[in-house]
Amino acid sequence: MSIQETRIILKNIGKIDPRNIDEYISASGYKGLKKALTMKPAEVFEEVMASGLRGRGGAGFPSGLKQKFTSESRPGLKQRYVVVNADEGEPGTFKDRVIMEQDPHIYLEGAIIAAYAIQASMVYIYIRGEYQESIRNSQKAIDDAYAKGILGKGIMGTDFDCEMEIKLGAGSYLCGEELTMLESLEGKRGNPRIKPPFPAEIGVFKKPTLVNNVETLANLPAIIAHGKDWYRSMGTEDSPGTKIFTISGQVNKPGYYEVAMGITLQQLLDLCGGMRDGRTFKAALLGGAAGTFVDASMLNEQMTFDNLQKKGATLGSGAVMIFAEDDSLYDMLHNCLRFFKHESCGKCVPCRVGTTMLVKKADDLRNGHPDKEKLLADMVRDAEMMAGTSLCFLGQSPVLPLKSAARYFSKELIG
Ligand SMILES: Cc1cc2nc3c(=O)[nH]c(=O)nc-3n(C[C@H](O)[C@H](O)[C@H](O)COP(=O)(O)O)c2cc1C
Ligand code: SF4
Repeated sequence: MSIQETRIILKNIGKIDPRNIDEYISASGYKGLKKALTMKPAEVFEEVMASGLRGRGGAGFPSGLKQKFTSESRPGLKQRYVVVNADEGEPGTFKDRVIMEQDPHIYLEGAIIAAYAIQASMVYIYIRGEYQESIRNSQKAIDDAYAKGILGKGIMGTDFDCEMEIKLGAGSYLCGEELTMLESLEGKRGNPRIKPPFPAEIGVFKKPTLVNNVETLANLPAIIAHGKDWYRSMGTEDSPGTKIFTISGQVNKPGYYEVAMGITLQQLLDLCGGMRDGRTFKAALLGGAAGTFVDASMLNEQMTFDNLQKKGATLGSGAVMIFAEDDSLYDMLHNCLRFFKHESCGKCVPCRVGTTMLVKKADDLRNGHPDKEKLLADMVRDAEMMAGTSLCFLGQSPVLPLKSAARYFSKELIG
């Protein structure tokens, strides 16, 4: 049986005008919020916890639990925030952009539901400045939601008040990392903060803050409207629901695909019309630059958070880059390493020096080093050391593509 898409988040794409709130409402829009507002805030996050939804920004943290932590941290404090992570900086990832450009109300609705669950009165949306259409359509959606009483004072006739505002990023990969993003939101230079404390405790303006990815939030309206059992009827036990994969590289139909979790890499390939012009599959890079290379032995593995982790791979944000027999994995790895060097903020030595050294050593791999096998092993060791000593996840990331490339494709890298 051929695999089909299962569209929950993307259900309206191509069917409604993203700049017309009435069309969203006619397509059952804001029903989830309406229902949430009849529930107690704790009932909302308990429903999300029971649904098993996990964060779609890369780490896969249980979303309901994060809402609960943020709601219950520092009791007595009135001000809490929701921050929507719309920075989407991971190479190969373009799913949030599709949502923001083509159905912005769905993630706004999710953000208001999340705000109600943790009793936040302010939502910030942090969008990368390059995403002009996302910014325009999100701003229009916010303005229209205010005009309809879906934002502002007394939302939908209840006593819940919530404001929403867009803040723009300036194209720094690191500013997608939640604590760095909060620094940037506060108007400071995008340097990471030390973790813990987590944003649930000390977030933006030192207040408890729920940070969620756009896709994560876009799941909430349907979860609240249809319930946890409906949501759990899709996907797998540990990764329920659907996931948007963004597929690029050597396939016939690259693009975005929303599928039930549990799909295998081979099934995803089939969904994209197979390898481009009959080429042979060589490798996939899963999860972007901060992801892992896999070879054909992984084609029949389920693409879920836990299964991929068990196999030493990553799901990350759902970016999948496909390589064919004649593509150079050396070039791709070199690209990833240059990316980390470029994006390192330079605050801590292991990452600042380490990312530069890794690019230099990768150059040497190509330029006829006398002992390439040892050089590659040294690079993996250096990256492991960086992973153990760098301040934030950026410096801990180069080990992922490097070690996985060395594991599956060492012959090609040193050949
Ligand atoms: C270097 C770096 C970049 C990141 N970029 C993004 C991003 O662009 N979008 C995103 O949602 N999460 C990004 N994350 C993950 C966030 O820190 C955070 O885990 C996420 O926004 C939490 O939302 P979720 O629970 O809904 O996944 C990044 C993390 C790191 C370390
Ligand atoms: S690990 Fe890299 S990006 Fe993170 S603080 Fe250190 S230098 Fe900056």
